[in-house]
Amino acid sequence: MGKIILTGDRPTGRLHLGHYVGSLRNRVLLQDAGDFDRMFVFIADVQALTDNADNPEKVRQNVLEVALDYLSVGLDPSKVTIFIQSMVPQLHEMTQYFSNLVTVARLQRNPTVKTEIKMRGFGEEGQEQAFGSGVPVGFFTYPISQAADICFCKATTVPVGEDQEPMLEQCREIVRSFNSTYGEVLVEPEILLPSNLCCRRLPGTDGKAKMSKSLGNCIYLSDDPAEVKKKVMSMFTDPGHLRIEDPGKVEGNTVFTYLDAFIEEGDFERFWPEYRNLDELKDHYRRGGLGDVKCKKFLLAVLNDRLEPIRARRHQWEQDIPGVYEILRKGSEAAAAVAAQTLHEMRDAMKINYFDDAALIAEQAEKYGSR
Ligand code: TRP
Repeated sequence: MGKIILTGDRPTGRLHLGHYVGSLRNRVLLQDAGDFDRMFVFIADVQALTDNADNPEKVRQNVLEVALDYLSVGLDPSKVTIFIQSMVPQLHEMTQYFSNLVTVARLQRNPTVKTEIKMRGFGEEGQEQAFGSGVPVGFFTYPISQAADICFCKATTVPVGEDQEPMLEQCREIVRSFNSTYGEVLVEPEILLPSNLCCRRLPGTDGKAKMSKSLGNCIYLSDDPAEVKKKVMSMFTDPGHLRIEDPGKVEGNTVFTYLDAFIEEGDFERFWPEYRNLDELKDHYRRGGLGDVKCKKFLLAVLNDRLEPIRARRHQWEQDIPGVYEILRKGSEAAAAVAAQTLHEMRDAMKINYFDDAALIAEQAEKYGSR
C-alpha cells in the first residue's frame, strides 16, 4: 500500500502563522518531496457549518480565503487535489454508516469536542449541561464526519496539529470497527505532527498559549507588511526586561519562540550579521544589553522574507478568482470519484449493494421458485 496524504481546514477565517508553521509549511514540503501516491487538501465547510449554522455567508466567503491561502503558500493543484467538503456528497453517506458504530458515550469522551463545547458556550456552566440539549447534533457528531473525510480516500497519513490527535484516534477506532464488522475495506490513518516542537502550538502575538482568531492575536498570511510590522512591534516579550541592560528571559518570550519557529539557514548572514546563530543571540539577550526593539526588527525581517513570496502568489491568484473556483471544482470532482469507489466497496461489505449482487437475486429467486 502506498502513502495517501490528506488534511484540511475549516473555512472560518483566513489562515495565520500558527497554521503555517503547524501544518501548511509541512504540506508544501510533503508535496515537493513527492513521496506519495496521492495527496488531498480540502476545505471543511460542512464542519465549519456545524457551529456556524447561522452564518453561512461567513463560511462561504472563507472558502475562497482558505483556497487563496493554500495556493499562496505554494500548494500546487497539479500535484495535490484541492477540494470542498460539501461538494463530495459521498462523505455524508459514509458518515451515516459510521455513526452506527459510535456510541454517544464515546463522543462525549472526545477531549476536543469537550473543550470546544465549553469554548463555544453551547451549554451553560459545567460539563453535564454542556452535553445537554443546547449542543447541535451535527456539532456533537462532527468527529464521525471527520472520520469520513479521512477514510474516503483511505488516507494513511494526516498532517495536522496536535489538537487533532483525539479526532485521529476516534477515526482509527471507527476504521477498526468497520473492518471487523463488515470486512477489511478501510485503512487506519497515522497522524503526522510537525517535527519541530515549537511549531506544534505557536503562541499568539500577546504571548497567550495559542494563536487564534477569537483571541485577536494572529498574524495572517495575507496581512500586508505594515500590519505585520505593527503586530511584531507590539509583541509580548519578557515583562521583567525593563531596561536594555537588564538580563532577559527567552523562555516564554514570544519573539524568541517565533524565531525558533521561523529561522532558516542564512537569516543571520542576511539580516543581522553581528550574530552567527540564534544561540548567540539568545545568550546576549539573557546576559543583558540587548533591546527588544532590535530583536523585533530582526524577527520582522525574517517573517517578511517568509511572507513575501506568499503575498506575491496571493496577489497573482487574486487576479484569477474564476480560475481558483475551477481548481476547486476539478478537485472536488476528482475527490468524489475516489469517494464513490470507496463507498462502493463499503456498500458491498455492508450487504447493501442490492442491484449489483446477481448472486443475491438468483438465490432469492431460487428460494421462492421464481424463474
Ligand atoms: N478539524 C480540522 C480543524 O479544525 C479540520 C478537518 C476536518 C480535518 N476534517 C479533517 C483535518 C480531516 C484533517 C483531516 O482544523
